Amino acid sequence: MNVRKLIKMKAKEPITVVTAYDYFSAKVCEQVGVDLILVGDSLGNVVLGYDTTLKVDMEDMIRHVAAVRNGASTSFIVADMPFMSYQASDEEGIRNAGQLMRSGANAVKVEGGKRVAPLIKRLTDAGIPVMGHIGLTPQSVNQIGGYRVQGKDEDSYRMLDDAKVLDNAGAFSIVLELTIEETAKVITESISIPTIGIGSGRYCDGQVLVWHDLLGINDEKVPKFVKKYANLSSEIQNALKSYISDVKNGNFPEEKHVFKEKLK
Ligand code: KIV
Repeated sequence: MNVRKLIKMKAKEPITVVTAYDYFSAKVCEQVGVDLILVGDSLGNVVLGYDTTLKVDMEDMIRHVAAVRNGASTSFIVADMPFMSYQASDEEGIRNAGQLMRSGANAVKVEGGKRVAPLIKRLTDAGIPVMGHIGLTPQSVNQIGGYRVQGKDEDSYRMLDDAKVLDNAGAFSIVLELTIEETAKVITESISIPTIGIGSGRYCDGQVLVWHDLLGINDEKVPKFVKKYANLSSEIQNALKSYISDVKNGNFPEEKHVFKEKLK
């Protein structure tokens, strides 16, 4: 996969995106043919146990992007730029994006509308492909006032305008998060690059889900837009309970798990 192939998929073939944060999840994504792997800053919530993505920093992202690249040597990997890695200045943003590329990313993702357009232009000029992210942008949750559905009423015009500006700035695709379906549809039909939806309905050019939600690793309540394709949380719990019971009852290890050396 590369940026040009991905853009060509727009309106022809739905694009699949899954988040991955480590060697193993990345390896499985590559084996099954996910179109694009996103090392999201959701890393903070689902792997590091932070209560917000605002706590994720460059060090976290660099380590996990490298792990994902180790597991998926040929996949197209997009790395989220964490909070405060690009907000203070475009120069800082460019340097930090460079570090994520050196760690193994093929592209970076930045949250925001018009405000980030100059940065997107400079990054793409520097040879760094950029994915935009509008609608619900968790890094601005304190400004937005909570995790609310976006793209209603007049807000839909602002989102459409933002999407066009990011397209013109050189972004190769845009994530639309938690956006009214009709607004996501109009945006998708109005720009030249693929939209990747999460909680934004059926008419985006592709979909992204978080690894832990999709696989049901997370036994907490998941948002309405998530489809769980497995229930690994209960599988894992059952496996661990069996292990505990086997060890406590002397049923593990068995003869076949043991190394023996003949005593002389
Ligand atoms: O961090 C993340 O996982 C994301 C997706 C929700 C798009 O940004």
